[in-house]
Amino acid sequence: MSERVSSLYERIGETAILQLVDHFYRGIAEDELLRKMYPEDLEPAKNRLKLFLIQVLGGPRTYTDKRGHPMLRRRHFQWKIGEKEATHWLRHMHKALQQSEMADKEKDDFWQYIYPSALHMINKT
Ligand code: HEM
Repeated sequence: MSERVSSLYERIGETAILQLVDHFYRGIAEDELLRKMYPEDLEPAKNRLKLFLIQVLGGPRTYTDKRGHPMLRRRHFQWKIGEKEATHWLRHMHKALQQSEMADKEKDDFWQYIYPSALHMINKT
């Protein structure tokens, strides 16, 4: 019998990833600092983040099929992201995780991935 390490995508499950992004975007919609950076219609943006997270956590690569190579840091250059913006962003992700039905281990592992990723997006002092 062969053994393999299952991806975070498999462990979390697609439904929980989709719910996480729905919760996250509810926070963005009410954030005075961040809301103005986002397009008026949040639905397509929500879908982009869903597809990206599905892919990066080890699921189907639909994000790249639709959007090309992520190059996330470069894509974020069009917004001024400082420590303050990253902190707001992470706060919404943290709240979304708290509301999620994901098991604690998966929440921790997801946080270990998303926290440094958000700091990496900082592009202004
Ligand atoms: C640090 C604070 C961050 C801010 C202020 C921020 C802000 C934004 C904004 C305003 C958009 C445009 C929404 C859209 O039209 O899709 C966006 C897109 C996106 N963000 Fe972020 N973001 C941050 C961090 C992150 C992180 C940590 C990730 C993932 C690890 C991420 C993943 C994405 C993705 C996948 C898109 C869509 C890119 C595309 O396909 O065009 N963002 N972000």
